Amino acid sequence: MKIALGSDHGGLRLKKEIIKHLEKKGIEFKDFGTYSEDSCDYPDFAEKVAVEVAAKNFEFGILVCGTGIGISIAANKVPGIRAALCSDTFSAHATREHNDANILALGERIVGPGLALDIVDAFLNAKFEGDRHTKRINKISEIEKKYKK
Ligand code: RB5
Repeated sequence: MKIALGSDHGGLRLKKEIIKHLEKKGIEFKDFGTYSEDSCDYPDFAEKVAVEVAAKNFEFGILVCGTGIGISIAANKVPGIRAALCSDTFSAHATREHNDANILALGERIVGPGLALDIVDAFLNAKFEGDRHTKRINKISEIEKKYKK
């Protein structure tokens, strides 16, 4: 499993905790920035990670900003991306099982590091259930196609 990571300055500290966690678990990853606490714009990092995940160069992405909201909204603009903002472990596994989410978004100002790492594990360990959910995922893709300029 290969994970693409990204954050803005508001998510940098939590991203560093996630990096340590993935290293401990031996999970391969690449950090697409930001790398410093200087103020930056979350859409830049959302796009870098989303493009890599959509191209299937990475199985999943994890994006962090202050709230997780801006970075998830931006990532979801890339066709093929289903980024889910999660603040609890139930949503984290349910979004893999039902929505086949390919990016997990987290808010550093919303969840503490302990819960955030449990959310990461819940997301990465869950499997898409297919079946009736496939039809719904396909409908999301149809909406994407319908409004594509
Ligand atoms: C940055 O100050 C903050 O706006 C950003 O990290 C995020 O919370 C936006 O949704």
